[in-house]
Amino acid sequence: EKGGYEHFMLKEIHEQPRSIQDCFRGRLNLDEGWVGLGGIKDYEKQLTKAKRIIMVACGTSWHAALVGEYLFEDLTRIPVEVEYASEFRYRNPIINEDDIVIAISQSGETADTLAALDLAKSKGATILGICNVVGSSISRVTDAGSYTHAGPEIGVASTKAFTAQVTVLTLMALTIARKKGTIIESEFRKIITELDLIPNKVAKILEKADQLEEIAAAYKDASNALYLGRGNSFPVALEGALKLKEISYIHAEGYPAAEMKHGPIALIDEEMPVFVIATQGPSYEKVVSNIQEVKARKGKIIAVITEGDEQVKEMADHCIEIPDTDENLTPLLTTIPLQLISYYVAVMRGANVDQPRNLAKSVTVE
Ligand code: F6R
Repeated sequence: EKGGYEHFMLKEIHEQPRSIQDCFRGRLNLDEGWVGLGGIKDYEKQLTKAKRIIMVACGTSWHAALVGEYLFEDLTRIPVEVEYASEFRYRNPIINEDDIVIAISQSGETADTLAALDLAKSKGATILGICNVVGSSISRVTDAGSYTHAGPEIGVASTKAFTAQVTVLTLMALTIARKKGTIIESEFRKIITELDLIPNKVAKILEKADQLEEIAAAYKDASNALYLGRGNSFPVALEGALKLKEISYIHAEGYPAAEMKHGPIALIDEEMPVFVIATQGPSYEKVVSNIQEVKARKGKIIAVITEGDEQVKEMADHCIEIPDTDENLTPLLTTIPLQLISYYVAVMRGANVDQPRNLAKSVTVE
């Protein structure tokens, strides 16, 4: 049932070219130039008119929501608030009847997310879901929603569910943007063309498994790690850190790269691996200076870069090259090598990768 892989997590990481494709099957048509999500069709108009969208989730799904915030604000110009479900429900949040609350959950059973939705519903908001498990509690209580279609995720550490959540959020943002007229046709075409190429690009990154295993071997004995990114790579940094800590038990933190100098920089010494997402894009030069700040303090840099980048290669200790794509889609690629490195580190440390201590696949208690 592990399909020849040693662990479910490894199998699920390798399934991503397929699971991302399954996620947009029937929802994206390049020839005719459209995207659409059947499940939320009746709510499209309401979404285009929304003054605010609130996304609620926990853990990895909360990181997907943060990527969603960048996508929605950039493409649809609708203000988005991303909330930890557990915080949202207990702080007397302001919820209006014209708000749209989107819950993101792989299992569809997370107690806090479910309770946040109940609260939003009681205040009259429209509630939508992005779930992986068909027929789950969250998918049943929501007014409408879209499944991620990633297939069963058995490994406790979420991998393919995350990339599928980001894919659904991309499709949703594109659908609304087009209907609302906040995206020009050429840009829309460019993004859907690139989205269609993502599964092949993910497959190309997975071919780098040997290199990623070598990087893991070099840092497997670290006691701390830092993950840095800016813009939509910041949530990828958070997700990279969560993946490492939950399965290898190495303490790791994700930070917006520019925030490093407001505290975490004090941690940097020659023992500290610093993973940096430094792909080409609007914040590239800024990230390059952040890398220089780390190097000046003898930290070790493992950089995820766009193929062909020479500048970062000269500074970093290790570089992972990934194919170029549209700026809005980079999280779908940059996440992949970080998942694999965490996996290999955990295996090398002898940890129980599929069932890390103290964790459960779905958290049905608050
Ligand atoms: C991390 C992980 C957890 C879940 C979180 C939410 O790898 O698996 O952080 O993401 O418990 O679970 P769902 O998405 O089922 O609501």
